[in-house]
Amino acid sequence: MKSFEFEGRSLDFGCGDGLFSFIRAGGRFRAEFDAFQKTEQLDRFYENADVYDAYDESFDPLVTMPASYQISVGFDHKANLLRKAAALGFYKETVQGDGNGPLPFGDDSFKSIFSNIVYWLDNPISVLTELRRILEPGGAICLMLPNDTLPEYSFYNSLYVETKDERWKWLELLDRGRLSDNIKQSKSDEDWRENFARAGLVVLHHSQHLPKTIIQTWDIGFRPMFPALMKMVDGVDREKMPGIKAEWLNALKMFATPLAAMGATNDERSAFHCYVLSK
Ligand SMILES: C[S@@+](CC[C@H](N)C(=O)[O-])C[C@H]1O[C@@H](n2cnc3c(N)ncnc32)[C@H](O)[C@@H]1O
Repeated sequence: MKSFEFEGRSLDFGCGDGLFSFIRAGGRFRAEFDAFQKTEQLDRFYENADVYDAYDESFDPLVTMPASYQISVGFDHKANLLRKAAALGFYKETVQGDGNGPLPFGDDSFKSIFSNIVYWLDNPISVLTELRRILEPGGAICLMLPNDTLPEYSFYNSLYVETKDERWKWLELLDRGRLSDNIKQSKSDEDWRENFARAGLVVLHHSQHLPKTIIQTWDIGFRPMFPALMKMVDGVDREKMPGIKAEWLNALKMFATPLAAMGATNDERSAFHCYVLSK
């Protein structure tokens, strides 16, 4: 994504709380800010409730460094995530809508579009056709899309779905609806290119990222312990929190820095594609 620039009128399609795009744009926060601080329905965590779909007036992102550019429009279907995104001061405008339907934007209305959600939607060809319609001639679309290796690397899929072995049924709690519900499309480069061609899009760039080791680390992450961790965090003295977070981060970095470096190699077995497309 390094070479992709948010030029002209720009769209973050499925921006969520905006944190990914804000940090990518150089935005930074004070250590006291915690992206997980505003959650709801923790008691329904194991029923796959979206615990981050929560907002109140106390949400304050404590920005220390603003992003080096702005994005014109942040689009998502969840109002609470858009409120968090708006609090960053990074999007000129936020628009709520369903990415599955016709998009509420005119033809040729964006010069640059980024999206990490096309694979969450029902029909890739109709979404790609809509994205093409709203892209101005000469503009570019940057998409993150899963490779067909992604399900192979999922513990839930490989140990439970493929085997039907009841000992691994509990992995549904780890998957939390990601593969069973959210991630609807995982395709080879060849298959994605066929979809682009049918939607009238041309590939300008293709690379791959997130190899198996990173995906399997992400797959577990802190998910199983999340509700208990949140309760512990709630019990921590606010004054002590930045110091404790610094210790966590330093320990995590020993592991995360070399792990992230692995993701920089362009390997065709990696779990995600990055495409830049034009029309
Ligand atoms: C994988 S997250 C991406 C968030 C962020 N762009 C990122 O890269 O971290 C998927 C986002 O898609 C949004 N989403 C899922 N289905 C949607 C739909 N039908 N219409 C609009 N947004 C949707 C979710 O609310 C969520 O914010």
